Amino acid sequence: MALESSIFHLLLFSILLPSGALLTLHTLQAHSESIRPARILQENNSSRASNSSSNSSYVPAMFIFGDSSADCGTGIINRWLQERADHLPYGRDFDTHRPTGRFCNGRIPVDYLAQRLGLPFVPPWLPRFRGMQDVLHGMNYASAGAGILSFNALDRGNMISFMQQVGLFTETFQQIQTRRGARDAIDMISKSLFYISIGSNDFIHYLLQNSSGVQSRYWPWEFNQLLVRNIRNELRSFYDTHARRMVVMGVAPLGCAPYYLSHYRSWNGGCVEAINNMIFEFNTAMRFMVYELGQELPDANITFCDAFEGFMDIVKNYQSYGFQTVTDACCGFGKYGGWFMCRADITCRNASNHIWWDRFHPTDRVNAILADNVWSGMHSKMCYPVYLQEMVS
Ligand SMILES: *[C@@H]1O[C@H](CO)[C@@H](O)[C@H](O)[C@H]1NC(C)=O
Ligand SMILES: *[C@@H]1O[C@H](CO)[C@@H](O)[C@H](O)[C@H]1NC(C)=O
Ligand SMILES: *[C@@H]1O[C@H](CO)[C@@H](O)[C@H](O)[C@H]1NC(C)=O
Ligand SMILES: *[C@@H]1O[C@H](CO)[C@@H](O)[C@H](O)[C@H]1NC(C)=O
Ligand SMILES: *[C@@H]1O[C@H](CO)[C@@H](O)[C@H](O)[C@H]1NC(C)=O
Ligand SMILES: *[C@@H]1O[C@H](CO)[C@@H](O)[C@H](O)[C@H]1NC(C)=O
Ligand SMILES: *[C@@H]1O[C@H](CO)[C@@H](O)[C@H](O)[C@H]1NC(C)=O
Repeated sequence: MALESSIFHLLLFSILLPSGALLTLHTLQAHSESIRPARILQENNSSRASNSSSNSSYVPAMFIFGDSSADCGTGIINRWLQERADHLPYGRDFDTHRPTGRFCNGRIPVDYLAQRLGLPFVPPWLPRFRGMQDVLHGMNYASAGAGILSFNALDRGNMISFMQQVGLFTETFQQIQTRRGARDAIDMISKSLFYISIGSNDFIHYLLQNSSGVQSRYWPWEFNQLLVRNIRNELRSFYDTHARRMVVMGVAPLGCAPYYLSHYRSWNGGCVEAINNMIFEFNTAMRFMVYELGQELPDANITFCDAFEGFMDIVKNYQSYGFQTVTDACCGFGKYGGWFMCRADITCRNASNHIWWDRFHPTDRVNAILADNVWSGMHSKMCYPVYLQEMVS
């Protein structure tokens, strides 16, 4: 518990702004007021932007949990969030060409996967319930800034941690049961896809030296074990609510992100090995845990997709993938574009030849490649034991 309260402090004031307080809270609030309209537009259009011919889909619905790698607009309800994606140039290459809360110039992997599955874009969870129609294709609870460890931030009214997202899903499940009856609801949930993409913020947090006790309290391998145990418990609780199909994403190589390249003073653009080694070890432990859980729950299909592997393949063979810029963020400032968060006036023209969109997040093109890999291993093998396509066919 002591750990959790120190993490809570950190979450609000450090994780979300890893480089320290560049913006005052004051500017921040002014900023968040000015973005409201964009969100309304997004609510109107993005959830129906893709194909909504729902009866030809592979699964009835998709339920999404995680951090900014999967957030499509839930995170911005947290007004304390400092890195925000509810302003241009975020979303400039998205279907609606508007900011939606996605940390990308365009689509994130779950958008591509929804399309593969024959679903419309999955809508973000929002405090205002939006009617059964939206829930029936699933719900995206992922929130930027969320971590695997529970940050106990509920007293601010911010639904962010993984555990809180699972709690929100339980509420949704009850609503579906009320509306459709228990048997139908269970049938729907057991055929639906659960997609979990979380962990980066726990590492960002761990790597912030001296700003919390976590690094001095846990060796890297102990910290990894703690994270993996926590995810395992949540996967188990999804299973207990009748989830049977789950895709668990690994953490991407943050050590190659422009933020870390600039802060660790990479002189030749080489990735920060200490960070990547820790994440590599985490992913290895996750893969093993998912395998074991699959043995334990034979009537479920759970697969682990190692975003680290898929991502490193792109970094190493960037030319064959058609990228020109490996290290520098398209939207950013300073060495590698890693100093400040993304703003419209510091953005490259063509994000498609960049791997990194901002200092922590990849571009739409990278997301498309990763989604292809989750679906069928099209570009490189990164899912164990099955691809999504095999799971749902
Ligand atoms: C929603 O999308 C339609 C076409 O896809 C467009 O005509 C309309 O202007 C959009 N509405 C808003 C509020 O963006
Ligand atoms: C779009 O948003 C506006 C403002 O919130 C709302 O009045 C309108 O009904 C919405 N339209 C659709 C099609 O959801
Ligand atoms: C929507 O789905 C139908 C049939 O499944 C397909 O023919 C059509 O091309 C799809 N439209 C889009 C925009 O993906
Ligand atoms: C989709 O639903 C319509 C009406 O409910 C039905 O006639 C049609 O056969 C369905 N198509 C598929 C591919 O299931
Ligand atoms: C962390 O704090 C310790 C003692 O409080 C200090 O010796 C050390 O230099 C600090 N490390 C960093 C990276 O600031
Ligand atoms: C799991 O996937 C395999 C195909 O890879 C399929 O044969 C099996 O029926 C699936 N089990 C469940 C519970 O979905
Ligand atoms: C952007 O870059 C991609 C990849 O290099 C290229 O295929 C595309 O034509 C470029 N678009 C423009 C508008 O220059």
